[in-house]
Amino acid sequence: MSLSEHEAPDTSLPEHVQENRTYWDGMADAWVSPGERSWKSDVPFWGLWALPEAQLNLLPDDMTGMDAIELGCGTGYVSGWMARRGATVVGIDNSAEQLATAKRLMEHYGIDLTLVHGNAEHVPYPDAAFDFAISEYGAAIWCDPKAWIPETHRLLKPGGHLTFLGHHPFSVVCTPLNGADTNEHLHQPYFGMHQQDWRTAEDDPGGIEFNLTHADWLALFRETGFDVLDYLELQAPTTETETKFGTMAEWAQKWPSEQVWKLRKQG
Ligand SMILES: C[S@@+](CC[C@H](N)C(=O)[O-])C[C@H]1O[C@@H](n2cnc3c(N)ncnc32)[C@H](O)[C@@H]1O
Repeated sequence: MSLSEHEAPDTSLPEHVQENRTYWDGMADAWVSPGERSWKSDVPFWGLWALPEAQLNLLPDDMTGMDAIELGCGTGYVSGWMARRGATVVGIDNSAEQLATAKRLMEHYGIDLTLVHGNAEHVPYPDAAFDFAISEYGAAIWCDPKAWIPETHRLLKPGGHLTFLGHHPFSVVCTPLNGADTNEHLHQPYFGMHQQDWRTAEDDPGGIEFNLTHADWLALFRETGFDVLDYLELQAPTTETETKFGTMAEWAQKWPSEQVWKLRKQG
């Protein structure tokens, strides 16, 4: 796996994918320790507030014999959790630097994952290759839903499941355009929500993210051919007092900072 700093930008990729590749390659060092902490745990925990799997039930308990894919796997710990449950796992990520950490950690724990450097909007696997797909803050927020949701539908077998976790639309609407912490005011329109470009946010410059209104997510799932099995709005526990990635615990105790969609491919 070559390190992306030695690579020329891939101009065949959409602009947001190129931008997010540069952004994540530059951020990867900061994600080594969190990745190590998550790999260390056999018991999955999720999102900003480290909510336990026992509460969210994002993974099947037994994944023996299942082909699973993580879309935007980062340091790969979710892929590791699925492999520990018996699945054969592919992790795809846009950042070679993040994958370098994933590779080191999977080898450290003696877990065999197939790691692919690429864009989760176009995955180099045939139709109906997977039983289960998941994203925790990977494709879930960094890929265009109008591209990655149909692509994941293509990748899943009929009846296969897609589960993803990312920011709640309330969190987007309540985040100032300069990237300052989420607060109790409405800063961005809800209607028409699609791409959030944080590159020029003075307080906290970032990459290019995506989210949709609830109605638009539901329309996309319906048009693509997914049934919604469940939808969760995540609340920060009362024990939390810190600000995590620009979201104050106090805010996230009153409004949902994160959402989980659990979907099943029709057929
Ligand atoms: C926050 S990490 C997600 C991994 C892990 N669950 C976590 O929360 O740390 C976000 C990952 O999404 C990846 N990503 C961004 N755009 C992507 C794309 N178009 N295709 C695949 N991965 C992408 C980034 O490279 C980064 O490693």
